[in-house]
This record gives sequence, C-alpha cells and structure tokens, in this order.
Amino acid sequence: MPTKKNLTANRASLGHRIGYALHHPNRVPHYLTRAARDLWLRHRHTDHVSYYRAVMRSDTRADPDTAVGSRSRERWLALGAMQFDYLLGHGLRPEHRMLEIGCGNLRGGWRFIRHLEPGHYYGIDISPDILSAAQDTVVEMGLQQQLPRLTPVRDLTLRFLPDAHFDVVHAHSVFSHSPLAVIDECLAHVGRVLAPGGWFDFTFDRTEGEEHHVLREDFYYRTETLTALAERHGLRARFMDDWEELPHGQSKIRVTHGALDT
Ligand SMILES: C[S@@+](CC[C@H](N)C(=O)[O-])C[C@H]1O[C@@H](n2cnc3c(N)ncnc32)[C@H](O)[C@@H]1O
Repeated sequence: MPTKKNLTANRASLGHRIGYALHHPNRVPHYLTRAARDLWLRHRHTDHVSYYRAVMRSDTRADPDTAVGSRSRERWLALGAMQFDYLLGHGLRPEHRMLEIGCGNLRGGWRFIRHLEPGHYYGIDISPDILSAAQDTVVEMGLQQQLPRLTPVRDLTLRFLPDAHFDVVHAHSVFSHSPLAVIDECLAHVGRVLAPGGWFDFTFDRTEGEEHHVLREDFYYRTETLTALAERHGLRARFMDDWEELPHGQSKIRVTHGALDT
C-alpha cells in the first residue's frame, strides 16, 4: 500500500506548527528539544555539513538505527530491504560497482555488500560516528570478506574517486537532509564518476507547494527543482513512479548520463 504523502503542507509555517502541536501534543517536548539543539548547533557551525555532522554525532550516540531514521531494528531491516529489493528489481548485479552516498550505518548497505562482489561497494558519509556504527554492522552481518570501503567525506565533490567507475550510485534519505547547494555540488560531480550506462538514484522529500525546511534538518523540494538542477549539469533526470507504490514517505529521482530526449 503506497504511503499517503502530504504534498502541500508547509511544515515551517507557524499555522502548520500550531496545528501539528494541537493534534500531537505528545510530540511537542521532542520537537522543542530538537529546536533547542538546532539553535545551539547553528550557533556553533556556520556551514551545513559540519552542522549536520554534529546532528548525526548527537543522534548516533543515542542510537544509530534511530539516527538514520528507523524507530526500531525491525523497521531498520524493513527499510533496508525496501532499498535493496527496489535496486535488485532494477537490475543491480553482483559485478556492478556501487557508490552509496550517505551510507549511514548500512541499513541498505549491508544487503548491497552481501550481494556485490568483494570490493565493489563504496560507502561515503560526512559522519565519522555513523561510519563507526557501519563497521559494527559489517561485523554483525559477518561481511568482512566482502571488503566494503567506508570513507568519511567533507563534501560531495567526489574528487578522490575515479572517472566512469560506478554503475550504480545510491543516496537514500540524504537529500531530504540537504540544502540545495549540497545537492547542486553532488549533481555537478556525480556524472564524472558514473560509468556509461550507470544510474544515480536519490530520494527526496517532495512538496508540490512552497519549498521549505524544518530546523535545517528536513528539506522539502519540488520535483522540477531537482530535475532542472540535474539537467543543468548535463544529466538526464526522471521521476520514479514505481517507487511511489512502495510504503515510503519520500520520492525518488533517477539520474543518468545524457540530456533529455526532445
Ligand atoms: C537518514 S540517514 C540515511 C542513511 C542511509 N542512506 C540509510 O538509508 O540508512 C542520512 C545519512 O546521510 C549522511 N549525510 C547527510 N548529508 C550528507 C552529505 N552532504 N554527504 C554525505 N553524507 C551525508 C548522514 O550523515 C546520514 O548518515
């Protein structure tokens, strides 16, 4: 059953916040804690990446599964399976080379690592804390022989990675936490590392109303903003309708080489 998305709400507006608080009074203390942390971290970190790295540090210390957005291990496993099954259905093969941007603690990653040939999985993340948790997942799942690479990054220029190397690039629930400048940087450079015939899938929080963000943590974009950005970097972008059929709150865009057909 597809998840019903609220595509028009502006969650940053005062009206929405008051309405939400009245409907979910039990969530108010959690929101206020996050808002206080947001104020403090914004004061300490002027650029988004170091801000979000600090958010991840704080969340990972509490619980790595919750830090990547899963309320329980059961949901962590299910969401990882959803990512994996989708890509498998779209032709992910063991010989493919895969780059996962914002790999977190390998919610989907451990399944990709298990499926791919040894050394074919490359995960990057801005958070050293969540990458340590990713190593724990490799151990827990007994995947040491698969030799996954897990690398911290400061930005998404991908400059240390080879040209035309990755058949599949994957970013799940990363651009939903990213301002447009970060997405722009990624789209400006991902084409260089993408192999001919390769594809880059990313999820995003979609709005059909005003683009907005909540606490610098959650960003909502219109589809056409992101497809236009990809096309500006000479890439082709298409909205993945079949992902909408899955029980997931975000939407997905696939980016490939080449401009749109006319
Ligand atoms: C919600 S978690 C999702 C993790 C993983 N993709 C999954 O589905 O479980 C978002 C992850 O993206 C990472 N991240 C956020 N912004 C990033 C950026 N600009 N570059 C690389 N990683 C980023 C965070 O540190 C975090 O691990």
